[in-house]
Amino acid sequence: MGTIAVAGISGYTGQRVLPGLPADARLLLRPSTAGRAPWKDDARTVGVDLLDEEALTGALAGVETVVCLVGTTRAQFRPATDDEHAVNYDTVDIGIPRALAAAGKRAGARRFVLLSSFGIEKGPGAYPAAKREAERAVRESGLGWVVLRPSFIVGPGRAAPRALDVFWAPVRLFARGFADDLRSIDVQVLARAVLRTASSAEWDGRVLEGRDLHAIAG
Ligand SMILES: NC(=O)c1ccc[n+]([C@@H]2O[C@H](COP(=O)([O-])OP(=O)(O)OC[C@H]3O[C@@H](n4cnc5c(N)ncnc54)[C@H](OP(=O)(O)O)[C@@H]3O)[C@@H](O)[C@H]2O)c1
Repeated sequence: MGTIAVAGISGYTGQRVLPGLPADARLLLRPSTAGRAPWKDDARTVGVDLLDEEALTGALAGVETVVCLVGTTRAQFRPATDDEHAVNYDTVDIGIPRALAAAGKRAGARRFVLLSSFGIEKGPGAYPAAKREAERAVRESGLGWVVLRPSFIVGPGRAAPRALDVFWAPVRLFARGFADDLRSIDVQVLARAVLRTASSAEWDGRVLEGRDLHAIAG
């Protein structure tokens, strides 16, 4: 297995992926996060502007698989400052995966694993549109790719969406796969699916939804 680089490792999902990463993994973090504990003490941390294709190309030298777990929400939107890019769907949910994919290709990487979201194909609004655009950029990058589309990600501190699962339980009686796409996914299950798809080309070229992610995680 070649070297894996992960962007978004400091996030809710990323922190559950972290323990499963090998010693030679590269943790790509924006400089303000890379300079803080625990990241500053991890030899695998690479502080890099995740929108700077040139800098990313250097950071990805020798990497086989790029994993993008980055994303933002409206509540986190803010304008650019002297030190940081603006935070919005265009910069984070589209700009970062696009820059990572282009840089990965230039650096000689072979594969890209993108954490996207369920229901974005036809969903209205800026968030699904951003995820569609990110997926398109990754698919057209020339790299092998896998797109993961979980529904709500739940776990410690994020249990509320689980309440919706009661609606999918009856659906599951006659359409198990469909219900598994809709229902929430535990963050540990998702983290295992991220690690497995990052470590093997078995699912390359596929868009994986809840039923697949549960099966892959085992
Ligand atoms: N939450 C859900 O229920 C859900 C459902 C389906 C899909 N998704 C998607 O799954 C992905 C991961 O979700 P999550 O809840 O694990 O994410 P999260 O906890 O919000 O973490 C977001 C990650 O993105 C990084 N990031 C955000 N803005 C950045 C910027 N401007 N520059 C560099 N890095 C930046 C953060 O790094 P810093 O630590 O530096 O901020 C962090 O590592 C996202 O793409 C999300 O859209 C989420």
